[in-house]
Amino acid sequence: MLKNIFGKSKKEKKSLKEQQNLSNNDLIPSHIAIIMDGNGRWAKKRALPRVAGHHEGMKTVRKIARCADDLGIKVLTLYAFSTENWKRPKSEVDYLMGLPEKFLKSFMPEIMERNIRVQMMGEKEALPTSTQTVLNEAMERTKNNSGLILNFAMNYGSRAEIVRAMKDIMVEVSKGNLNVDSIDESTITNYLMTSQLPEPDLLIRTSGEVRLSNFMLWQLAYTEFWFTDTLWPDFNEETLMEAIHAFQKRNRRYGGLKGEEIN
Ligand code: FPP
Repeated sequence: MLKNIFGKSKKEKKSLKEQQNLSNNDLIPSHIAIIMDGNGRWAKKRALPRVAGHHEGMKTVRKIARCADDLGIKVLTLYAFSTENWKRPKSEVDYLMGLPEKFLKSFMPEIMERNIRVQMMGEKEALPTSTQTVLNEAMERTKNNSGLILNFAMNYGSRAEIVRAMKDIMVEVSKGNLNVDSIDESTITNYLMTSQLPEPDLLIRTSGEVRLSNFMLWQLAYTEFWFTDTLWPDFNEETLMEAIHAFQKRNRRYGGLKGEEIN
């Protein structure tokens, strides 16, 4: 059972791993990526408008960011808006575009106190100016913070990201700055929006859907996947710990064999 200790004082936080029965040998994933799904269904179950589900989902973001920070996770990437989400009704899109402002307005003091760095990945230029402004301000204000990286995928699509990387690489080749023969996997990795981040160790998708929905296709090549029926607004510290415990039981071999398996 998860003890209800998240979001407590810094002093108490220090022993969080210990209190969760995690020894130093228990591997805490460095980078967790989450496909936050099920806000609409959460709202529907309560006969509420879909945006009420997104609002509740935003509160879960705060809860999980705190918990990730308390656990010493280095990067938390959250799929907040995909390139496909523009197909939703304008009123819903407008609401989603306003969420970063709502979130950052109330959470920024704690972000600074916790030394969290806000980042985003996605086609920023296509976001409404007001959304771009709040995200830019948050990124600028937190750029020297050295704690948890809270990375929002906003207007993000993995295929578009790869296309953009290919084009950028081709430009460098055509300028003579890059030799085709020298292109390898690391070249591509370096041209993606995640070039400064480690690859995710653990991917979580909520709400019972079992697909990637164009999320980090390159970066998830060796990531452990964990799916839950829990709807994102109902996701909490306990569900996160369940995912982390499941991750710790996995045997990550990266296509090779572990020492004890080699005869
Ligand atoms: C998918 O659920 C969820 C989204 C498209 C939006 C996710 C956004 C948040 C959780 C809040 C983000 C917060 C910030 C601060 C940017 P869905 O609506 O498709 O759910 P459904 O499948 O049940 O309809």
